[in-house]
Amino acid sequence: MIQKRIQLAALYIDEGDLVLDIGTDHGYLGIEAYKRRAALITLVDNKIEPLNKAKLNTQDLIDPKIVEYLLSDGFKEINKTYDKIFILGLGGDLISKIIADGRNKIADEALLILDAHTKIDHLRKYLFDNSFLIKEEKIIKENNHYYEFIVSKKAKTLFPYNELDILFGPLLRKEKSPLFIEKWEKKLKKNLEILKNNPDVKNIIRESELIKEVI
Ligand SMILES: C[S@@+](CC[C@H](N)C(=O)[O-])C[C@H]1O[C@@H](n2cnc3c(N)ncnc32)[C@H](O)[C@@H]1O
Repeated sequence: MIQKRIQLAALYIDEGDLVLDIGTDHGYLGIEAYKRRAALITLVDNKIEPLNKAKLNTQDLIDPKIVEYLLSDGFKEINKTYDKIFILGLGGDLISKIIADGRNKIADEALLILDAHTKIDHLRKYLFDNSFLIKEEKIIKENNHYYEFIVSKKAKTLFPYNELDILFGPLLRKEKSPLFIEKWEKKLKKNLEILKNNPDVKNIIRESELIKEVI
């Protein structure tokens, strides 16, 4: 079954979009993109086994004229421009590297839909420091995990940011949705448990102070 996370990410696709999915693995984003009438779907992985899996999972469900499967390290083998670029389920440091290496291949109007499963703070810092606008953020929960989508776009200016923007997300921390509060309350509780036995862990003390400030 296709994960809710993938289905929700695919809601950013409009009819006629040219869609690129970097790190596709199972290829399910491609199936959702086809349902949403994308005009072209390029599924990319840097390893052949996942790419073959994507082919197997999608070839009977997507019109072969619309889908292509590409073995590529990030944007390396990409020679078209796309409307929507998905990089989902990788670490924030790797997503940042893929964007940095492929920056010239990202059209000015393209939307990047990003879902970092670790080091999302690293990714936000990269985007801020490299003139990418964080246009939208969304938090979702599936199987007891919280996921945060960042929708980003190239910009011509740098945007000011602070420590809170990096840790919590510049839009999420202002929106303060119930799911956001739930996530950070849980994290604070975990931190306080850790501090009971190790009261001097500086980064956990600092993070806990910031959580209290925001929620
Ligand atoms: C954990 S899976 C995520 C799959 C899917 N995007 C999702 O969110 O469920 C990560 C996939 O990214 C691929 N990958 C890792 N580094 C990559 C790179 N530099 N370029 C393209 N694909 C990459 C891996 O081979 C793997 O199939």
